Order: sequence, then C-alpha cells, then structure tokens
Amino acid sequence: MRIFSGIQPTGQIHIGNYLGAISQFVQLQEKAECIFSIVDLHAITVPYNPQELSKNIFDAAVCYLASGIDPEKSILFVQSWIKEHTELAWLLSTVTPTGDLLRMTQYKEKSKQLRDAKAGLLNYPILMASDILLYKAEAVPVGQDQKQHLELTRTVAKAFNSRFGETFPVPRVILRESGDKIMALNNPKKKMSKTAPSGCLYLFEEPEAIKKKVMASVTDSGKKVKYDLEKKPGISNLLTIYSLFSGKPIKELEKKFKNSNYSSFKKSLAEQLIVSLEPFRRKKKELLTREVYVREVLRQGAKRAKVIAASTMAEVRQKMGLA
Ligand code: TYM
Repeated sequence: MRIFSGIQPTGQIHIGNYLGAISQFVQLQEKAECIFSIVDLHAITVPYNPQELSKNIFDAAVCYLASGIDPEKSILFVQSWIKEHTELAWLLSTVTPTGDLLRMTQYKEKSKQLRDAKAGLLNYPILMASDILLYKAEAVPVGQDQKQHLELTRTVAKAFNSRFGETFPVPRVILRESGDKIMALNNPKKKMSKTAPSGCLYLFEEPEAIKKKVMASVTDSGKKVKYDLEKKPGISNLLTIYSLFSGKPIKELEKKFKNSNYSSFKKSLAEQLIVSLEPFRRKKKELLTREVYVREVLRQGAKRAKVIAASTMAEVRQKMGLA
C-alpha cells in the first residue's frame, strides 16, 4: 500500500499535528510505502514572510525526523522541489468543479479572515489532490480538518479516470479513532491550530511552559474528571491527550482521577507530557547540530520522489493528449 501525507511549514508543530497526523505516519512507515512532504507551496497561499518560510522548511524537516520518521523507510521531501506537483495541479484544475472549491470549509473560514483572499487559496485543494495523485497514493493519514479536502481529491481522481481512462487509485482517508481533532487548550470549542498560537501546546515545548499551559487550560465549572464531549469539552480534550500520550484508556484515567479535583488532574497530565515530550526535545537538539545530514535527507528524498512523479506525469500527459 502506498501512503502520502503532508505538513505545511508554517511554524512550530503542535501536539494536534503530532497526534492527528505524525504519530500515524510513524506507525504506517513500518508496514507501508510512505511518502511525506513538507508542503511549502501550500504555505504561500496566505500572507507570509519569505525569510521565515525557508527557516520553517528546515524546521519542519527536523520535526519529521525528531518525531520518528525514518528516511530509510519513508521518502521525505520538499514539495516545491518537484515541479510535477504544480504541473499536475494545473491539469487537474481542468476536471475540478469550481463549485466544490467554493464550498470548502477551510477556504470559507480563511478567506473570511483575510478579506482579500487570492486565487491560490481557492485552488489549494487542487494542489493537495495533485500531491496525493502524483504518487498514486492509496491512503492518506490526516486529522479531521483535512477530511473534506480528501473527499474532493476522491472526486477529482474519479473525474479524471472517467474522462481520460483509469489512471489514479481513489485514495481513502485514514483518521485516528481518537485524536483526529485535538482542541485548543484555551478554547475547547476550537481545534488546536497553528494560526491561533495561544491555544497550542507545541511538540518541543519546554517543561516550564508545559506546566503553565496545562494548568491554565480552560475547563468547565464542574468538579468531576469525566469524559463528556457535550458538557465537558475541556476535560474531555485533556483526557484524550492524556490517554494518547500515556497509552492508558480514558476509562482507566477516569477511575484513577475519580476523587481528584481538576488541578491535581492537570498536574498529573503536565507531568505525563513533560516525560512524553522529552525524547522529541532531545532528538530535535541533536538534529539541529546536524544540518548537513538533514539537508541530505531532503535531497535524497526528492530524488526518490522525482522518479515516481515523472513517471505519473508522462502517463497523464499521454492520456490527456499532451504528449
Ligand atoms: P497542516 O499543516 O495544517 O496540518 C498537518 C496535519 O496535522 C493535522 N492537524 C490536526 N490533527 C488533529 N488535531 C488538530 N488540532 C490538528 N491540526 C492539524 C492535519 O489534519 C494534517 O493532517 N492541507 C494540509 C497539508 C497537505 C496535505 C497534502 C495533507 C498538503 N497536501 C496531501 C495530506 C495530503 C494541511 O494544511 O495540514
């Protein structure tokens, strides 16, 4: 089975990115052919700073490697280095209904915030479809917020196949049963998002900051540590995070904290996170001293990705009558 997924180099990776996406990547690379990308062309669809972007691309590579992506098992590369992504995106735009693009929740939300949204933001899901289809991926591990984009990718694959002949597998989404939507620590009604840093707990967060953020996290006015998404979204989110990092089922945690107040529950969660995130911090520090190695991983990854991308494009061009 071939897997593709990507992460935008738009600043620090948070535990939502890790739990929803990267932790799945790490498991999948053991049993599937995995291709992971730093999707820099997606990151330029909103206002950005070019100097920061190039640093963020390197940081995203460090993050992938520090989280356990093994370049011996997975292909890791930077999207813009493989020109076929943009070429295929253009070709796929000719079979993508405009109405579908206008209906995308992320486009609607982001364009509302920006007011003068550009065409790149509207076309963003076509580029995402092109990322996936270029490698003929059969499955795509993501967080829940990307599910709609995956549905559009399926629509585009089917439209292309029916117009030009069987070419692309129709990829399925892989969502984690729990952890596919981690909520913001300061607002459990909103997902943890890089665009709202105050609600984020970062993967490389220092112990003091972990303590501070967890203790200050927003919960409800009740007293019981109990999973109840409707009435206790804050506590439920913290329980989910606790469960995924400790490997203990939520039921077991509820029992453990049956007689505890929120404050001692949070203290224990902070301790768990400090321990669980320590290996990521250590690995990151080590990788930051091995810049040549990190850049070499990306170069080798691009070389391998290019072979697959070029072969798909030759087929697509031929099928579309462009050859
Ligand atoms: P991005 O960079 O916003 O997020 C990277 C991954 O993290 C997941 N995620 C979350 N999961 C759980 N809880 C959260 N609060 C949370 N926030 C983010 C995202 O779902 C994603 O899996 N469009 C994509 C990047 C992309 C891509 C692709 C993904 C471009 N091309 C092709 C898959 C396949 C994005 O913006 O992810």
